[in-house]
Amino acid sequence: MKIIRTARFMAAWSERLRRKGVTIGFVPTMGALHDGHRSLIRTARLRCDALVVSIFVNPSQFSPTEDLSTYPRPIARDRALCLREGVDVCFEPTAQTMYPQGFQTTVIVPALASRWEGAARPHHFTGVATVVTKLFCLVRPHLALFGQKDYQQATLVRQLVHDLNLGVTIQVCTTVRERDGLAMSSRNIYLSADERRLAPLLSRALQAGRRVIKGGMRDVAAIERIMRQTIKQAPAIHVEYLAVCDQDSLEPLSVVADRTVLLGAVRIGAIRLIDNLLVQIPGKKSRATRRSWDQGA
Ligand code: PAJ
Repeated sequence: MKIIRTARFMAAWSERLRRKGVTIGFVPTMGALHDGHRSLIRTARLRCDALVVSIFVNPSQFSPTEDLSTYPRPIARDRALCLREGVDVCFEPTAQTMYPQGFQTTVIVPALASRWEGAARPHHFTGVATVVTKLFCLVRPHLALFGQKDYQQATLVRQLVHDLNLGVTIQVCTTVRERDGLAMSSRNIYLSADERRLAPLLSRALQAGRRVIKGGMRDVAAIERIMRQTIKQAPAIHVEYLAVCDQDSLEPLSVVADRTVLLGAVRIGAIRLIDNLLVQIPGKKSRATRRSWDQGA
């Protein structure tokens, strides 16, 4: 496995392989790799000739109050995982490589970036959109994989690839969860034992929402009430949003439609958790959900 740290070497490697007709798969990450990342890597490994994983804790997607300096960086463990999974290149650019002096261009996806996570973290998605675009320009993948865990991020990436004709196929992989339903995340290690016990309530709230929708409930206010009730048992959890939305625009719905996603974010102490569930309405064909989204529902 090669470790590449400069933009020039990364671009040259991709150019050489593309000329030979090799298909390049790409999994962008911020490191602290867990089974969620591993599932993207394994899926990519099966679908492409060559596989690049990037590990870059992107400063521009953190706000000044967030955990940029303390974000976990177990680089030796991450490299070992990549090696075991048959990754060809670990791309580990420095902040200076990605944002050299004088850097000024940003990529903004205004509507998708303004809601939900974007409302809580104002510059976050501009940071994500910009770094993903830059990484695509350097790695030049045919296929890039993202996790459904970050549903809004995956939707936004799909939009920017379409809008900017980037020519990268985006595959979104099902959320990998702990046994109790908590979505895996590099930040879960920050949870205290008590907080960790409460954390699965977010996925349980979303499941409760999906259950009543499958049972025929269509009134969004009532569904949101049911999701909130699941979390009310634990006063230590603060709900930021639990919403019934359109799968593409992420606009809130007033009545459940056949392309629905349930989005949720909660705060437990200082930790924010996000999660989501796609809902397949009984009787509707799976056309309702895009082919390249894995079906977890
Ligand atoms: P990071 O949080 O490291 O996640 C990298 C990829 O792993 C993302 O596509 C994310 O959705 C996916 N992922 C995380 N947890 C997952 C889980 N439990 N199951 C399945 N997939 C999961 O997301 C980022 O990094 C950054 O914003 C990035 C796209 C790299 C841009 O900086």
